[in-house]
Amino acid sequence: MLVVLLAIGVVTAAPLPPLKSVTPPGVRIGVAVNQAQSDGRDQAALAIVTAQFNSISPENLLKWEVVHPEPDRYDFGPADRYVEFGRQAGMFVVGHVLLWHEQTPPWVFAGKAGGRVDRDTLLPRLREHILTVIGRYRGRIGGWDVVNEALDEDGSLRKTPWLEAVGEDYLVKAFEFAREADPGAELYYNDYNLWKPAKRAGAIRIVNELRARGLRVDGIGEQAHWGIADPPIAEVDTAIGELSAGTGVKVMLTELDIDVLPRDPDMWGADLSKKAKIRAATNIYPNGLPDDQQRRLARRYADIFGLVVKHRDKVRRVTFWGVTDAQSWLHDFPIPGRVNYPLLWDHQGRPKPALGAVVEALRGTR
Ligand code: G3I
Repeated sequence: MLVVLLAIGVVTAAPLPPLKSVTPPGVRIGVAVNQAQSDGRDQAALAIVTAQFNSISPENLLKWEVVHPEPDRYDFGPADRYVEFGRQAGMFVVGHVLLWHEQTPPWVFAGKAGGRVDRDTLLPRLREHILTVIGRYRGRIGGWDVVNEALDEDGSLRKTPWLEAVGEDYLVKAFEFAREADPGAELYYNDYNLWKPAKRAGAIRIVNELRARGLRVDGIGEQAHWGIADPPIAEVDTAIGELSAGTGVKVMLTELDIDVLPRDPDMWGADLSKKAKIRAATNIYPNGLPDDQQRRLARRYADIFGLVVKHRDKVRRVTFWGVTDAQSWLHDFPIPGRVNYPLLWDHQGRPKPALGAVVEALRGTR
């Protein structure tokens, strides 16, 4: 009982050990940092990063539109500082992301003579981008999300400009170019909702097809942008087991956060006035997360990290998508302007009961 009360923060306990000191050997514990952090402006968050984690991911600054905004212009300043911060702090540094259909500037998909780009134009652009970006950080970025979100919910390939212009082998090409650029880097496929069977089958198919061609694939990332009750924990359990057994590569939870606010199917595609109504109805904790909800969040995280312990031979990394609640993208998704509480440190950077619950779930595994 005392353990439960400590874990959910009802009883004040001794200072908690850092997450990285209780994570099972062989499992990396990571966090996504934003530019204010990797530039050194947000020192309070940085103190948490260096004390608690042994891996970092870049929330936005290595995405195509940031690092390669124009055909002949790369802007490596923020990414250089991110990589250098990680190396100085002895972190495993992740690269995110080389090929995605979002946050890719329009010029990438524009044809040379106007109109839409074709395969013979787009593939050399992709190769040049991947060789330049990976090449710059060869030996310093340890693993790359090579392709992000290639799948529709039914497990078929998403109808993106990559698929339309290049054809189905665009994934093969991306992984070939990545291995060419840094044969020593780990290479990953990353997507969300892989706890859903049809989409998971698609991801397993992708990884197996790549490996059948002799390409390097080290891991499959389930982003893990999850809700307070969905997906049911049993489905996460099944997903980790099947992703591992179906591919033979390591499983990673790459963008973990827990949305505590209600979702409404109408949030997607609502017009402005409807959005305002939905926001008013679902922004239910504007002044702080109540204690009972803190406990609920703590239990949710305890369940998730119970599975990390159970599957520690299959899970290679768990990365939180942000350091403190103040940083989270979930204030603006699925609709902008709500106050959310998805992470382990609160808006002021104070540890939440969920942190104690994660430590408690992990403790004793080292
Ligand atoms: O940089 C501009 C800034 O100049 C401008 O003043 C500001 C005004 O809103 O916008 C800034 O850009 C925002 C950017 O984050 C940096 O904060 C974009 O509008 C915003 O769309 C962008 O959101 C990011 C989102 O990816 C884009 O799709 C989130 O921070 C980031 O957390 C999120 O991360 C993705 C993963 O890469 C892939 N998986 C899903 C995950 C959540 O969407």
